Amino acid sequence: MTHIYYFSGTGNSFWSAKQIASLLGDECRLFSIGIETQKIPPAAHGIRVIAANAVVFIFPSYALGLPVVVRRFIKSLEIKAPYTAALVSFGSYQGGALAEAARLLGRKKIKLDYAGLIPAVENFIPIFGPPNEKTMRRRLALQKIATEQCALAIKRREIGTIKTFKPFSKAVSLMFHLGLRFMWRWFKISNACTGCGICARVCPAGAINMGNGRPQYSGKCQQCQACVNFCPQKAITLGRARPGNGRYTHPEVRAEDFYSKG
Ligand SMILES: Cc1cc2nc3c(=O)[nH]c(=O)nc-3n(C[C@H](O)[C@H](O)[C@H](O)COP(=O)(O)O)c2cc1C
Ligand code: SF4
Ligand code: SF4
Repeated sequence: MTHIYYFSGTGNSFWSAKQIASLLGDECRLFSIGIETQKIPPAAHGIRVIAANAVVFIFPSYALGLPVVVRRFIKSLEIKAPYTAALVSFGSYQGGALAEAARLLGRKKIKLDYAGLIPAVENFIPIFGPPNEKTMRRRLALQKIATEQCALAIKRREIGTIKTFKPFSKAVSLMFHLGLRFMWRWFKISNACTGCGICARVCPAGAINMGNGRPQYSGKCQQCQACVNFCPQKAITLGRARPGNGRYTHPEVRAEDFYSKG
């Protein structure tokens, strides 16, 4: 049995995780890191034991490093598996996300056998704005090819080398991690909000509560942009994610795929 652990805000990593599961052909189980992290009971001192034939992590690069929730998840693991792989989906440059994963696993005496790069569509709409049609198609095609290559490498149990986490990536990632404590306060909800609750249901961090029929954010937010991009009314705004601007979610992933999955 291969265990695939994914974290995904707008579906890129989730899409690749599903593709890899079907391409591997052997028995695969998909787990959401968001949900798994919320499940770890304090009584077990936050330790989760994974026993499998192979373990694969798939996550986006955030500010040249790992999403905080992925970092916490890896720290909580004890892995009993002969093969471990990590794949990062990214919009332009993944920086040190894979190196950070390798380092965290290494501290637990787990060797990261294979690290794979999956170029995908940039989803940080508040900063970069919505992708244009041509860029989107090009990046989706690259994602498909890279996902297939990674699946093949994992199937063959390939061993690769992982570059070290550069000081610049470390610094940017650290600033982002510190900023997470207050960045959730920047989201604004416009009057277009219908109170449908989709934003709360797609949130992989359980960071949104529907109070008084309106989303209420909390410090659990990971800045994954799921709420911004899946909101059918474009009612959640921040930076270039303005009411009139487009949004992005992977075209083959629906909001429902994320409901209760984290
Ligand atoms: C908060 C945040 C930070 C990001 N930082 C980077 C980055 O440093 N480098 C990069 O190439 N892409 C970056 N991205 C883009 C995502 O890594 C990329 O779009 C990824 O495929 C999204 O995966 P998902 O749809 O599974 O959430 C960032 C996205 C977000 C939301
Ligand atoms: S998804 Fe959009 S419309 Fe629905 S509750 Fe959230 S902000 Fe409001
Ligand atoms: S509140 Fe929005 S941006 Fe923050 S983790 Fe949840 S879905 Fe992602």
